[in-house]
Amino acid sequence: MDQPQNRVFSGVQPTGNLHLGNYLGAIRNFVGLQETHECIYCVVDMHAITVWQDPKELAANTREVAAAYIASGIDPERHIVFNQSKVSAHAELAWILNCVVRIGWLNRMTQFKDKAGKDREKASVGLYTYPVLMAADILAYRATHVPVGEDQKQHLELARDTAQKFNNDFDAPDFFPQPEPLIMGEATRVMSLRDGTKKMSKSDPSDLSRITMRDSADDIAKKIRKAQTDPDPLPEDVKGLEGRPGADNLVGIYAALSDKTKAQVLAEFSGAQFSVFKPALADLAVEKLSPITNEMKRLMDDRAYIDTILEKGAERARAIADPVLARVREIVGFI
Ligand code: TYM
Repeated sequence: MDQPQNRVFSGVQPTGNLHLGNYLGAIRNFVGLQETHECIYCVVDMHAITVWQDPKELAANTREVAAAYIASGIDPERHIVFNQSKVSAHAELAWILNCVVRIGWLNRMTQFKDKAGKDREKASVGLYTYPVLMAADILAYRATHVPVGEDQKQHLELARDTAQKFNNDFDAPDFFPQPEPLIMGEATRVMSLRDGTKKMSKSDPSDLSRITMRDSADDIAKKIRKAQTDPDPLPEDVKGLEGRPGADNLVGIYAALSDKTKAQVLAEFSGAQFSVFKPALADLAVEKLSPITNEMKRLMDDRAYIDTILEKGAERARAIADPVLARVREIVGFI
C-alpha cells in the first residue's frame, strides 16, 4: 500500500460557539496547507456526542463548521470536507485501537480530567476513550500531518504511540506512519478575554470571554474593549509581556491576524496605551473576521449546498479509508 508523504487530516467539533481560538489555532492554518498538501478536513460529530448534544443543534452546528471551513477559504472541490459519522471506518478503527491503547495512557490525558470535572464516574465512556477515536480519525487515512492548536498536543502524542504500538504488536513495520503535529503561528493557544490565564473555550459560561465566528462588528469591538488587561502601556519587546497574560494574549491575537510576529507588533505599538491598541485590534479583527462571518451566513442559508459538499466529501473519504481498513482487518486476523 502506497504511503502518501503529504497528507493532512484535522477536525473541529460541532459543539457551537466556534471561536477565534478555533480559527487562529486551527482553521486558518488548514487553509494555508492546501497549496502543499492533500487535505482532509472533518467535522467530528462523533466526538461532539461524548458530551450531551441536542440533536437539532448538533445537525445545525455540523453545517456551521462546514460553512466555517469553506468561508475561511478551504476548497471542498480540491480537498475533502465531510462529517465523521458518515464514514464508518472511524468507528471501526477506533474499536480495534481501543484494544491496542492501554488504560494507563488514557488515565494521563489532562483534557479528560478537565472535561469530566469532579464527578468523573458520571462522564460518558466515550469521553474517556475520545483520544482513541481521534487516533483512528488520523490513522484511517494514514495521514502524515495534523494541524491543531496547542491543547491537542497530548492527544497527538497518544496517536503517535498508538500507531507505533499497532505496528509493533502486529509486526507490520511502517504500516501506520507517525503523524506529525503542526502547531503553527503566534496564536496556538488563544486565551479567554476575561482571564488571560484560561484558554478561550466554547464552553466558558461568559460570552464576553470569546469572539465567535458569528459575532457582529459591534460585538467584536465591545468584547475587545472589555477585555481584561492591566494599566501599563505595551512594552517594547516580547520579554516585557511576561507576567502580563491579558496583554500577551491581545498582542498574540493582533500578531496572528496581521501575519506578523509579536515582536513586530510591539515594535509598532511600543509604549501605546490599551486605549489606543484595543481600537486598532478591534478594527483589524473586524476587517479579517467579518467577511468570513458574512460568507458563513450566506452558506448556512444554502443548506442543500452544504449537505452536498458533505455527502461528496464522505464518498471521497471512504475511498481512502476503506482500503486502509480492509488491510487493518487482514493484519489483525479478521476473516
Ligand atoms: P476542538 O473542536 O476543541 O477545537 C478545534 C481546533 O481548535 C483548536 N483550539 C484552539 N487553538 C488555539 N487557541 C484556543 N483557545 C483553541 N481552542 C481550540 C484545537 O486545538 C483544535 O485544533 N479533538 C479535537 C478535534 C479532533 C481532531 C481529530 C483534531 C477530532 N479528531 C483528529 C485533529 C485530528 C478537538 O476537540 O478540537
